[in-house]
Amino acid sequence: MASYLFLCLFLFFPHLYASFSSSGSQSCSHPEAASLIQFKNSFSITQTDDAARYCNDFSGLKSYPKTNSWKEGTDCCSWDGVTCDHLNAHVIALDLSCSWLYGNFPSNTTLFLLPHLQKLNLAHNDFNYSKIPSEFGRFTSLFFLNLSRTRFVGEVPSQVSHLSKLVSLDLSLNFGQTFDEHALEVLVHNLTEVRHIFLDNIDMSSINPHVFMNLSSSLRSLSLGSCNLQGKFPKNIFDFPNLNLLNLGGNQNLNLDLLMFNRSSNLEYLDLSTMSFYTELIDSVGNLQALQYLDLSGNSFLQGLSVSITNLSSLEYLSISDANIFGGLPDSMGNLVSLKFLYLYRSNLSGPILKSLGNLWQITYLELSQNQLSGQIPFLILNLKRFEYLGIAENSLEGSIPDEVTTFPNLISLYLTDNLLDGKLPSWFYTAPSLKEIYLCQNQFSGHIKEFQSKSLEWIELEDNKLQGPLPSSIFQLLNLTHLSLSSNNLSGVIEFSMFSNLPNLKHLDLSYNSLSLTSNSTSSVNHILPNLTNLILSSCNLGEFPQLLKGLKSLERLDLSYNRIEGKIPQWMQEVGHDSLKYLNVSHNSLTEVEHFPWKNITVLHLSFNLIRGNLLIPASTINVFLVSNNNFNGEVSSLICNASALGILDLSYNNLSGTIPQCFGNLSYSLQFLNLQKNKFVGAKCNK
Ligand SMILES: *[C@@H]1O[C@H](CO)[C@@H](O)[C@H](O)[C@H]1NC(C)=O
Ligand SMILES: *[C@@H]1O[C@H](CO)[C@@H](O)[C@H](O)[C@H]1NC(C)=O
Ligand SMILES: *[C@@H]1O[C@H](CO)[C@@H](O)[C@H](O)[C@H]1NC(C)=O
Ligand SMILES: *[C@@H]1O[C@H](CO)[C@@H](O)[C@H](O)[C@H]1NC(C)=O
Ligand SMILES: *[C@@H]1O[C@H](CO)[C@@H](O)[C@H](O)[C@H]1NC(C)=O
Ligand SMILES: *[C@@H]1O[C@H](CO)[C@@H](O)[C@H](O)[C@H]1NC(C)=O
Ligand SMILES: *[C@@H]1O[C@H](CO)[C@@H](O)[C@H](O)[C@H]1NC(C)=O
Ligand SMILES: *[C@@H]1O[C@H](CO)[C@@H](O)[C@H](O)[C@H]1NC(C)=O
Ligand SMILES: *[C@@H]1O[C@H](CO)[C@@H](O)[C@H](O)[C@H]1NC(C)=O
Ligand SMILES: *[C@@H]1O[C@H](CO)[C@@H](O)[C@H](O)[C@H]1NC(C)=O
Ligand SMILES: *[C@@H]1O[C@H](CO)[C@@H](O)[C@H](O)[C@H]1NC(C)=O
Ligand SMILES: *[C@@H]1O[C@H](CO)[C@@H](O)[C@H](O)[C@H]1NC(C)=O
Repeated sequence: MASYLFLCLFLFFPHLYASFSSSGSQSCSHPEAASLIQFKNSFSITQTDDAARYCNDFSGLKSYPKTNSWKEGTDCCSWDGVTCDHLNAHVIALDLSCSWLYGNFPSNTTLFLLPHLQKLNLAHNDFNYSKIPSEFGRFTSLFFLNLSRTRFVGEVPSQVSHLSKLVSLDLSLNFGQTFDEHALEVLVHNLTEVRHIFLDNIDMSSINPHVFMNLSSSLRSLSLGSCNLQGKFPKNIFDFPNLNLLNLGGNQNLNLDLLMFNRSSNLEYLDLSTMSFYTELIDSVGNLQALQYLDLSGNSFLQGLSVSITNLSSLEYLSISDANIFGGLPDSMGNLVSLKFLYLYRSNLSGPILKSLGNLWQITYLELSQNQLSGQIPFLILNLKRFEYLGIAENSLEGSIPDEVTTFPNLISLYLTDNLLDGKLPSWFYTAPSLKEIYLCQNQFSGHIKEFQSKSLEWIELEDNKLQGPLPSSIFQLLNLTHLSLSSNNLSGVIEFSMFSNLPNLKHLDLSYNSLSLTSNSTSSVNHILPNLTNLILSSCNLGEFPQLLKGLKSLERLDLSYNRIEGKIPQWMQEVGHDSLKYLNVSHNSLTEVEHFPWKNITVLHLSFNLIRGNLLIPASTINVFLVSNNNFNGEVSSLICNASALGILDLSYNNLSGTIPQCFGNLSYSLQFLNLQKNKFVGAKCNK
C-alpha cells in the first residue's frame, strides 16, 4: 500500500520526486539540525509493544532506530529518514516510521519549528497515549501526514484542518482516538486536495456519516474500517470518479446503498466486511469490473452467494470468511480467473467442493477450513500448480487424496486436519520441493510413511491416523524440522535416540501411543543432541528408564513419559533437566518407587499418579497449579508448605497412605482450589478452631 501511494504521489507531483531523490551539495541549517536533535531527545528509543513487531511481521517494513544515525555536527540532510530540498537544504520530509520512538509527544516540540516540512511519517511508533498536539496545524506546507499506529489518543485537534494542502492523511489504528463532528466537517471541507484518507479505528460513533458528503472530488482512497459509524453513508460516494479504495468494513450499524455500485467503475479495493449485509445487496457488486480486492467476511446475513460476484473477472483477492453462505457457491465461481487468494473460512459451506474451483489456475492461497464440506477432494483442484497454501481442515472430506496430480512446486503449507480422509499419503507429499508444514492429523490415513525426497519440511503433524510400519530413515535427515508429531498411529519398530542427532532444530517431538520402542545403544553419544527441545511426549513408548536423550535439555518445558515401564526412582541427573523451564511433567502409570526432589522452579503441572511411590509427600515449587499423586504409597502427614502454592487449582492425593490432619491452612487455598480429592487415605478429622 505504502509504495503504491507513494507512486501515486509522484505521478501527480513530479516536482516532489526531483527534490526527494537528489541529495544536494548544501548542508542543512544549524537551527533545523538542532530542532531535529531536540525532537529525537524528547523520546526514549525503545522497541515497545507490537509497533515494531508489526513493522517486521506484517508490513514488511524494517524496524530499527533511524535516529541512531543522527549525530550533532554532521549534515542533517544525510541523516536516516531526513530529506532536504536540494536548492536551499531545508528539511522537507521526515520519515521516522518504525523507528522505536517511545514517550509522550511534547506539545512544544521543536519539530514544529520545521516550517518547510511537506511530508511527515511517524507511523508505528509509541507516543504513550498522548494527544495529537494542536500545533500540528502549523505544518501548513504538509501534503503527506502519517500518524498511523502511534498510540495517540483523545480528540483529533480541529487544527488538522489547517493542513489544506494535504494529499494523504493517515491517522488509522490509534485505538482510543475520537473525532468531533464539527472538526471532521471542517476537515472534509478544507482538505480540497485530499486523495487518500485513512481513519480506521477512530471512534466515530457520535458522528453523522453525512459529513463525508463534501469530500474532495480528487478522492481515491477512503478507509474508515471499524470506526463504529452508524446510520446511512452518503450515496454520492459512488460519484467520485477516481475512487479506487473504499473500506467501510467492521461498521456493523452502517448502511450503504449498494445498488449504486454500478457507478464506481474505478474501484479496485472494497472492504465491506462485518456490515450486516444481505445477499441481495451484495448483488450489485458484480458491476465493479475493475475490482481486485473484495472483503465481504463477517456478513452473517448472506444466504448463498449471488452469481453476480462471479462477474468480477479482475478480482485477485476475495474473502467471505465468517459469513453464512449456506446456500453454496455458484458454479460460475470458476469465472474468477484472476483470483489469487480465496478465503472461505468458517462460511457455513456444505456439500461437495465445487469442481469449477479447478479453473482458478492463478490461485496461490485457498482457505476452506471449518465448513461442512463433504465428499472427495476434486482431482481438478489438486491440479492447480500455484498453490502456496491449501487449507481444508475441519470439514467432512472423505476418500483418498488424489495421487497423480501436479508436484506443487510452490506449496508451503497443507492443512487437512480433522476430516475423514483415508488411503495412503499421496506421493507428492514426499516430493513437493517447498513444502514446510503438513497438518494431516485426525484422519484415517493408513499404510507406511515413505521416504521423503524433499528436505524442506519444518512441521509435520500426522497424529491420530492409522499409519503403520517403521519410520522412514529420511525423516531423520530433515535438517530444518522443528515439530514432529506422530502420536496415536500404529507405527512400529525400534528408534535409536542417536538417530535424532541431525535434527538440532527440533522443538517438539511426540511419538506417543504407537508400537514404537525407543532405545539408546550408547549412553554417552545421545546427550545434548536436541538442544532446543521444549516438548517431549513419549507416552506409551515402551521405555524402561528415563531416556538418556533428556540429559542436557536445558529448555525443556513439557515432558510426558506416562504409560511406560519406568522403575525405581527419578534419576539424580533429572534435576538439571528443565530446571528453570519445565512446566509440565507427567510420569504417571509407571512403576516408580521413589522421588527425592522436585527441583523444577517453574512447574505448573505434576502428574505422578499410578506409580508405587513411597515416603513423605514432597511439595513442589509454589508455581504448581495441578498436582496429581493418587494411587501411590505416600505416607506420613501432608506438610503445610503446600499452602504456599497460591495458584493450586487441582489436588488429587487419593489412594495413598497419608495420615494425620489435613493442614488447616487449606482454607487459604479456597480462592484457587477447584478440585480436591483426599479419599482413601488415613486422615483424621481436621481440628477446627472456629
Ligand atoms: C503510513 O505508514 C505506514 C508505515 O510506513 C504504511 O504502512 C501506511 O501505508 C502509510 N499510510 C499511507 C496512507 O501512506
Ligand atoms: C508513559 O505514560 C505513563 C503514564 O502516563 C508514564 O508514567 C510514563 O512515564 C510514560 N513513559 C514515557 C517514556 O514517557
Ligand atoms: C517543553 O516544555 C517542557 C515543560 O513544559 C520543558 O521542560 C521543555 O524544556 C520544553 N521544551 C522545549 C523544546 O521548549
Ligand atoms: C482552511 O485552510 C485555510 C488555508 O488554506 C486556513 O487559512 C483556514 O484556517 C482553514 N480553515 C479552517 C476552518 O481550519
Ligand atoms: C456540503 O457543502 C454544501 C455546499 O458547500 C453545504 O451546503 C453543505 O452544508 C455541506 N454539507 C456538509 C455535511 O458539510
Ligand atoms: C445504476 O443502478 C441503478 C439501480 O439499479 C439505476 O437506477 C441507475 O440508472 C444505474 N446507473 C448507471 C450509471 O448505470
Ligand atoms: C456483468 O457485467 C456486465 C458488464 O460487463 C453487466 O452488463 C452485467 O449486468 C453483469 N452481470 C451481473 C450478473 O452483474
Ligand atoms: C448455517 O446455515 C443454516 C441455514 O441457513 C443456519 O440455520 C445456520 O444457523 C448457519 N450457521 C451459522 C454458523 O451461521
Ligand atoms: C533450511 O532452512 C534454511 C534457513 O531458513 C534454508 O536456507 C534452507 O534452504 C532450508 N533447507 C531446506 C532443505 O529447505
Ligand atoms: C536453537 O534455537 C536458537 C533460537 O531459536 C537458534 O538460534 C539456534 O540455532 C538453535 N540451536 C540449534 C543447535 O539449532
Ligand atoms: C547405535 O545405533 C545406531 C543406529 O542404529 C548405529 O548407527 C550406531 O553404530 C550404534 N552405536 C553403537 C555404539 O552401537
Ligand atoms: C516460567 O514460566 C513463565 C510463565 O509460563 C514464563 O514466562 C517464564 O519464561 C518461565 N521461566 C523460565 C526460566 O523458563
